[in-house]
Amino acid sequence: NKRRPIIIANWKLNGTTAFVSDLLDGITEQWFGVHQAEVVVCPAFIHLAQAVNEHLAHSNVALGAQDCSQFEEGAYTGDVSAEMLHDIGCQYVIVGHSERRRFYSESDAQVAKKFDLVHQSMMTPILCVGETQEQREAGKTLDVIKRQVGAALDYCGVEKLARSVVAYEPLWAVGTGVTATPDQAQEVHAFIRELLGPVGQAVRIVYGGSVKANNAETLFAEPDIDGALVGGAALKADDFIEICKAAE
Ligand code: G3H
Repeated sequence: NKRRPIIIANWKLNGTTAFVSDLLDGITEQWFGVHQAEVVVCPAFIHLAQAVNEHLAHSNVALGAQDCSQFEEGAYTGDVSAEMLHDIGCQYVIVGHSERRRFYSESDAQVAKKFDLVHQSMMTPILCVGETQEQREAGKTLDVIKRQVGAALDYCGVEKLARSVVAYEPLWAVGTGVTATPDQAQEVHAFIRELLGPVGQAVRIVYGGSVKANNAETLFAEPDIDGALVGGAALKADDFIEICKAAE
């Protein structure tokens, strides 16, 4: 396929300014070894400006945020809008991460609003979808995926989906050390592509859930896996760069 691989680092709730400096130094120093994959790092909101100013302004590593407000602006204390993220230099925003859905009860409708606002602010959303262990065991995996992708499709239309990244993250594989097998992931990725119809061929669909340097290559060998959304293994520059290289 002709889709350019994309590897996204989600640093979640980790790091200090010193940690962010070291990690970005490590990534940009080894960057010459990554020839093909697009690389995105998603620090916490408070470290975004630092990442741009100290490191990313002169590199090809793109910047993403981990979330954004479902509102454009106004009296929403604590929120950060898509427009603010664009203004500070973000190109990507993760929306609907399973941790947001789970710990903050984000609904499909809220995720769809965020997805739309990211587009309106000229950035690319990374839409996360995925089933729980119970849903998988009950044979409901594809129903859940269809509902989650469908919410964004119904609200925003297929043209916006065509200009997005979709991340499949089975909840039972996130932060657990248990990775979906390449077959399990491939089945869901192919299903998502099918849901998107003809434009699906151009959409990058990445896998997330305990991706490590030693399992990335077999996952990326699948025809519908276009990269990864990496949590734990993205907190060390060496490990993260190894995963980026596996996508070559
Ligand atoms: O956003 C990243 C995913 O939640 C995966 O996290 O690689 O620590 O399992 P993980």
